[in-house]
Amino acid sequence: MFQKITATFACWLLSCAAFAQHKDAIFLDKAQFTTGDDPAWSFPGFDDKTWKTLQTGQVWQAQGFDNYHGFAWYRIHVFVPSSLRENAFWKDSLRLFLAHVNDVDETYFNGVKVGKTGAFPDDAGGYVSKWPATREYHIAAEAAAVKWDAENIISIKVYDGGGTGGIFMGAPYIDMLEKTDGLAITMAAEDIRYDADKATLTLTVSNSYSVYFDGVLKTKILDAAAHGIITQKNAVLHIRPLDKSVFHFTVPNRPGVEISWSFTQTGTTLVRSEKQTLPYTLTPSPADLPRINSAAVLGLHPGSPVLFKIAATGKKPLRYAASGLPAGVQIDPSTGMIGGVVTDSGSYPVVITVSNSLGKAQQHFNIVAGARLALTPPMGWNSWNCWGINVSADKVMQSAQALIDKGLIDYGWTYINIDDGWQKPVRATDSSVVPNEKFDDMMALGTWLHSRGLKFGIYSSPGPRTCGGYLGSYRNEEKDASTYAAWGVDYLKYDWCSYDEIARNDSALTTFIKPYSIMDEALQKQKRDIVYNLCQYGMRDVWKWGSQVHAQSWRTTEDIEDTWQSFSSIGFGQARLYPYAGPGHWNDPDMMIVGKVGWGQDLHPTRLTPDEQYTHVSLWCLLSAPLLIGCDLSKLDAFTRNLLTNSEVLAIDQDVLGSQAQRMVENDSTQVWVKQLADGGKAIGVFNMTSGYSHVRLPWKELGFRRTQRVRDAWRQKSLGTVQNVPRLLLPPHGSVLLKLASN
Ligand code: GAL
Repeated sequence: MFQKITATFACWLLSCAAFAQHKDAIFLDKAQFTTGDDPAWSFPGFDDKTWKTLQTGQVWQAQGFDNYHGFAWYRIHVFVPSSLRENAFWKDSLRLFLAHVNDVDETYFNGVKVGKTGAFPDDAGGYVSKWPATREYHIAAEAAAVKWDAENIISIKVYDGGGTGGIFMGAPYIDMLEKTDGLAITMAAEDIRYDADKATLTLTVSNSYSVYFDGVLKTKILDAAAHGIITQKNAVLHIRPLDKSVFHFTVPNRPGVEISWSFTQTGTTLVRSEKQTLPYTLTPSPADLPRINSAAVLGLHPGSPVLFKIAATGKKPLRYAASGLPAGVQIDPSTGMIGGVVTDSGSYPVVITVSNSLGKAQQHFNIVAGARLALTPPMGWNSWNCWGINVSADKVMQSAQALIDKGLIDYGWTYINIDDGWQKPVRATDSSVVPNEKFDDMMALGTWLHSRGLKFGIYSSPGPRTCGGYLGSYRNEEKDASTYAAWGVDYLKYDWCSYDEIARNDSALTTFIKPYSIMDEALQKQKRDIVYNLCQYGMRDVWKWGSQVHAQSWRTTEDIEDTWQSFSSIGFGQARLYPYAGPGHWNDPDMMIVGKVGWGQDLHPTRLTPDEQYTHVSLWCLLSAPLLIGCDLSKLDAFTRNLLTNSEVLAIDQDVLGSQAQRMVENDSTQVWVKQLADGGKAIGVFNMTSGYSHVRLPWKELGFRRTQRVRDAWRQKSLGTVQNVPRLLLPPHGSVLLKLASN
């Protein structure tokens, strides 16, 4: 009678994000909550009044259970009216949608088990985290467990194996399943083509049920700011079982264009509708003349192997040269790769030249051999936000190859970092860590990456296990550091996770520093430059002591998700941390959530709107944040590529002064952040915090800027004249502008 279906309608398709649920859906936004575990908590009659009330959309760490990992229970009390069933066309199945659960859940409806996703540590086979899976359980409407016109108790036993815990990343609800749930209306980002001021897109209506669909599809292209219709189209659809219909549109390539569609099913008159902002490109195509995009400084340890590829655009083939290189270091003129070893400490002023058949570009480039690494924020890719623990050598190589083929390497994107999920459960007899079946030869992977000018990153935990339950480095730190060095690793993300078991609620600051200082000592012994990233979610103000353990960056927050709420609270929440960022030590507000993400399951286009994505990249650059792309690069669409290859925007992140922007204006609708740049100029981010269009006139005078200072729009790479000429800005919902102000 009870049926478990995991993530049938994952709703990652652009269309169903907002309208997956029935119009009468009942949202389950609050629950009674306690930590611990007792089977009696599944019983409907249990009295949970003394439990704490939590929001279901946020992890419990964000709601007063800062450092708790292990078992916990949610109990949701919900009145289910019979009108929910009566108003439905198909009246047979109740759907319980619980969004994501960190990490494992077992769910009961009035004491009857209706589903389980993942495995608890005491299950046969051991713990399996399934946090990237959305939970959707279906219950027959006739089942005795469902109490119509009465209160029902949904009890959810949850296990959190590390990192964050609980129900999150979505809004849980119950509703009735309908025929229209089998219909998906999608507009794939990969299918959008841009041609200067026009874009062409494809809308696909597909039927995943084995019944016919009849209805009318109404589509409109809208000018959101002017509230006007650009074009509209109606179509009568008769879609065969498991078939689809496809429509093409040509639209303006500019901000503020929306598409809306609504499908009315014949007979039931049920409607599925959706409106979304169309992605538009702002970054102009690169010129044919060479341009050098690399940061103007490189920090390294004397005696370590050097690997640095000059990032440059321009008509290929490009030729590379460098004068003033320290002894022991050479440049390959055809690839722009600098290699060798610097033996003596010191600062070496180098001039780089990149030339092609049309001309040349030159840039001063300082090689600083000394104690510091990462003199500008690391830029690259990390496997976590797309592949989760399903990462494999093949997937890593595919993304690395795509980073090269799609030209991202020409803008300085270099690190290829494997996150959790690469370790075998047991060590070799000499106690060295061994990769699992998904990564047969780490050294070969490192060599493969290096030969292409890329850097190799890896992940571990100071605890016995990582957050995904893989082997950690506890008590094997030195062995692991030397193994990484032998493999050619250039970056280590070191994630607290199960170190809780070792720390055992000891809140002394030294307890938080200790595991990071042990790995620090182990890394310092290696003759290799390994950038050290602390991942412990900002506990005990890590920004105040991260440099003490020679870390080059530290995560300042819990994990990011691809929603405005998550990224804006993390990004705009960095304001007070500006004194702690600088060359060789960066605040890390987590990896980027653009492109196709999904943490190993349900890979889906980011749920951020295009304007939110421009805001995301602008803010991360103003923050001098490490830029780690978290999407599947082999599926990189034209919009996301354009977003990640703006040399003037990325130059703000990679500015050698390394200062983090300060928030200068903050009110309900607007924020203005200002970052000091090495050339005496400033980068200014103006952000619309509202969900509507907003006009902003910048308070130039109050900000201390002179009327005659020159202003440039960084995204459009266009001069706006002087301060006194900049018009009132019209910012889209959650949108922004990124300006560069000249020093004079
Ligand atoms: C989390 C961390 C994520 C990812 C994950 C792997 O603690 O914040 O970024 O590394 O662990 O299990």
